[in-house]
Amino acid sequence: MTFKLLILLHLLGSATWIGGHVVVVGVIVPAAKRARSVARIVEFERSFGPIGLAALLVQVGSGIGLAHHWIPDVRAALIAPTLVVYLLAAKLALLTTIIALAAHAHHRILPGLTAERIPSFAAHAWLTTLLSVGLLVVGATIRLGGWT
Ligand code: HEM
Repeated sequence: MTFKLLILLHLLGSATWIGGHVVVVGVIVPAAKRARSVARIVEFERSFGPIGLAALLVQVGSGIGLAHHWIPDVRAALIAPTLVVYLLAAKLALLTTIIALAAHAHHRILPGLTAERIPSFAAHAWLTTLLSVGLLVVGATIRLGGWT
């Protein structure tokens, strides 16, 4: 029951996080470029920011619970790593990169964002979206046990 609940939370968080970023790269950034104004980006970041952060926290919390389900004995798993261990390591590497990108955007790009710097923001948003889809694919691979 707990495992099933964790899966539901993980899927809900995933849909919210990735869906929000698809809206940014597919709707908000093109509109901002057309209007040569950062207003829509700033407005969206202000309203979606707390939702996105909550979704990311749900991912980390439920992800840790799911990882414990797959790897109940961490020491044994590190001595004789299975495919799941490598896939989880890949997830953690992707997550770390995403958090670094988000922190950089939050502290360096968004404050004082100008129309000229929209392409830089867009590149960040695209990279975050692609890496997040990578997290989804790697996560699904855990359940599927590989692709062969
Ligand atoms: C934005 C971040 C993340 C996204 C978008 C994401 C997405 C996903 C998706 C879509 C699945 C497939 C679920 C299924 O097969 O039903 C999955 C599985 C999984 N994820 Fe994540 N994940 C994220 C972060 C994390 C983190 C931080 C951890 C670990 C600390 C983690 C651990 C797992 C595990 C263990 C599974 C396998 C669950 C299972 O199918 O039994 N995930 N993830």
